[in-house]
Amino acid sequence: MSRINLKKMKFATLCVHGSGGVDPATGAVSIPIYQSSTFAFHNAREGAQIFAGERDGYVYTRIGNPTQAALEKEIAFLENGEAALAFGSGMAAISSVVLSLCESGSNVVSSNTLYGGTHQLFKETLVRYQIEVREVDGTQIENFASEIDEYTRCIYIETPANPTLTIIDIEACARLARKHNIPLIVDNTFSTPYFQRPLDIGADIVVHSATKYIGGHGDTVAGLVVGSKAYIDELRNSILRDLGGIISPLNAWLLVRGLKTLAIRMERHQETALEVAKYLNFHPKVRRVWYPGLTTHPQYELVKKQMTGFGGIVSFEIKGGRKAGETLMNNVHLFTLAVSLGDVDSLIEHPASMTHSTYGQQDLKKCGISEEFVRLSVGIEDRHDLIDDLSQALRKVKI
Ligand SMILES: Cc1ncc(COP(=O)(O)O)c(C=O)c1O
Repeated sequence: MSRINLKKMKFATLCVHGSGGVDPATGAVSIPIYQSSTFAFHNAREGAQIFAGERDGYVYTRIGNPTQAALEKEIAFLENGEAALAFGSGMAAISSVVLSLCESGSNVVSSNTLYGGTHQLFKETLVRYQIEVREVDGTQIENFASEIDEYTRCIYIETPANPTLTIIDIEACARLARKHNIPLIVDNTFSTPYFQRPLDIGADIVVHSATKYIGGHGDTVAGLVVGSKAYIDELRNSILRDLGGIISPLNAWLLVRGLKTLAIRMERHQETALEVAKYLNFHPKVRRVWYPGLTTHPQYELVKKQMTGFGGIVSFEIKGGRKAGETLMNNVHLFTLAVSLGDVDSLIEHPASMTHSTYGQQDLKKCGISEEFVRLSVGIEDRHDLIDDLSQALRKVKI
């Protein structure tokens, strides 16, 4: 495999082979789980050289590990970045990136519709370290522009956003970031590189909750950062080394395995989600549906400009208030009532009281997340079975 130019390969091939092929040390076809905290040096001189950065080699799993390296190599290929770094969770990846760029007294300008945990980091935790995050309605590029000042260290966006599927114009944000000589960070969790490659349209850093589609099976919590080699080296040797938010070798292996099927899983998620979205769009008990693949999505033109597909998340507002949503969630059988997303299993949740409960009432309203808002993560089950399940549960809803 090493003689093949992987850079020329198509996405599905990279998913299977991008992590490096047969393990050179053992011939193992599946990358081994290098479950070792530390790595022996051949002699003292070699150890000193590796520590001094004069020679490549593994030292200690908090700083790097061959199974982790296989994962990083692969996600860097898929996102078309120079290098990548894996973390123990999406939040570890996001907080590490922000901390690597900011110091006390500086600020971040961010879109306001974010995963609830990111919003909490931005609005509660970072404030304690005098890092301010200015969250704006990201659908208007002028809103970012008017908040940037000499202390702004980066622009941060999540697109499509969790859970409203709001789309932010990556290219326009990248232009603005370049003008101010600051990096643009994009959370690409919802699309994965299969449907959107932010680095190709001007972003500098991509972050992922790899817990979601990258792993794909609801069994691993992890995060990823992709960017230039210079930035990733610095991140590894400073924040990762110091704060220690590493991924375990087992979890890195689970993600390498998950990535092998990413292309076919994403196709299937999308195919089924589109059918579910269309079904809900015409349902008399549903007020409104948000799905990037519906022509009724308010930013459908932008979706087509920057994404090659729509993903597997469908959100909707049910008629009949919070009670109607609860009846629905308590009566589905195939959709599991649980947070997280991107699993092969279909999931259903109530953002206002669950994933986005960190937003106060006012911020929820500002972002358009009502009490009637329900989020579906459409899995890879048969679409007819999923629609039948929603249909029988919606019959029990009184409006
Ligand atoms: C878009 C997005 N980014 C980041 C995160 C945080 O990732 P993790 O739960 O892996 O820490 C999540 C979690 O749901 C998410 O949905």
